[in-house]
Amino acid sequence: MLQGKFVVLGVTGSIAAYKAVELVRLLKKKGANVQVVMTRSATEFVTPLTFQVLSGNPVITDMFEKPVRWEVEHVSLADKADLFVVAPATANIIAKMAAGIADDMLTASILATRAKVLVVPAMNVHMYCNPITQENISYLKEKGFSVMEPEEGFLACGYLGKGRFPEPDKIMEVIERLVGNSNDLKNKRILITAGPTREPIDPVRFISNRSSGKMGYALAEAAVERGGEVILISGPTCLPQPAGLFKYIAVETAQDMKEQVLKFFPWSDVVIKAAAVADYKPKCYSERKIKKKDSEMVLELTKNPDILKELGEKKDKQLLVGFAAETDEIKENALEKLRQKNLDLIVVNDVTAEGAGFEVDTNIVKIIYKDGSMEELPKMTKKDLAHVILDRIVQILRS
Ligand code: C5P
Repeated sequence: MLQGKFVVLGVTGSIAAYKAVELVRLLKKKGANVQVVMTRSATEFVTPLTFQVLSGNPVITDMFEKPVRWEVEHVSLADKADLFVVAPATANIIAKMAAGIADDMLTASILATRAKVLVVPAMNVHMYCNPITQENISYLKEKGFSVMEPEEGFLACGYLGKGRFPEPDKIMEVIERLVGNSNDLKNKRILITAGPTREPIDPVRFISNRSSGKMGYALAEAAVERGGEVILISGPTCLPQPAGLFKYIAVETAQDMKEQVLKFFPWSDVVIKAAAVADYKPKCYSERKIKKKDSEMVLELTKNPDILKELGEKKDKQLLVGFAAETDEIKENALEKLRQKNLDLIVVNDVTAEGAGFEVDTNIVKIIYKDGSMEELPKMTKKDLAHVILDRIVQILRS
């Protein structure tokens, strides 16, 4: 996948800079042409010569070293690159990228490129968790950058926490995905639902659930990365709208979601229903705020429409993917749901396991297929899982 690809590796001033040396070796082994660009502080940690020998290319360390060429050079690097990888990325470079600062070769090239950019943060846990860094990371993601999650563990600064540079093998997987699969959903129209629905009781109260929308948004981001035309229909979440969508539609109730999904169903080739649709809604909506009383209160509920089931009945060319949260007899229950709703595959969350289900960034799932086979996946980030689910969808589309 990486054979002949031009990868620009930006190395910044983190102690993890020495681990980027291994990344160069792995990239070269896969046949990539690697151009290393180091910030001034990175050169304090590792010598450019190390990267030069391993990459087989002179390392660029400063924009003004060659005054005659630099202007051209940062643009030519930007244009030539199939992928930019900033690894390790310090809080400083992340902040500069988010602000659009271009005061050295690396930041200038990143600002000028139209290639995909992968950012691999590595820093002290408090710098990583600082709301400013977190906001900068969210902003970069919103603008279409791919940002890897650092790992947890012992950090060079002596702290235990999130901020470790991921294993180079893991970074390679992401790189291969970004470069390799980039267009396997080209010309495919993908409708994704995400988040919870809100079923109003009165003007101030509603019934909802714990869905954060993270799984659906990760699927939308991943499908865009792979060249798909994506419509994301989302219930209320705190997440930034993914970049590059064909359409983003915000909804509140299951009924709103149903109307939008049905409207765009004929348009779609693939529908992924990651939303946690409320099964019930209040039977009567009170136009005025319901007054508190001393007595008990009984709230009557009525069933919401099962959107996915309706899609299953209407299905024509579309590939239908459902999500389910099961705790008992997972395979049997999921398979029954798959058949009832006429799905092509169903992704089952084990909501009882740590690191799975609502609100967290990771998930542990099983995928169940029409033929009754089941695939158990290990714990992984929702973004990685999104790509695995899309890999399976691509396989079915091609079969
Ligand atoms: O039947 P269950 O709620 O477990 O099915 C979950 C799947 O069905 C999810 O993909 C969810 O988005 C979808 N669903 C729906 N409409 C509902 C309830 C669930 O589309 N009212």
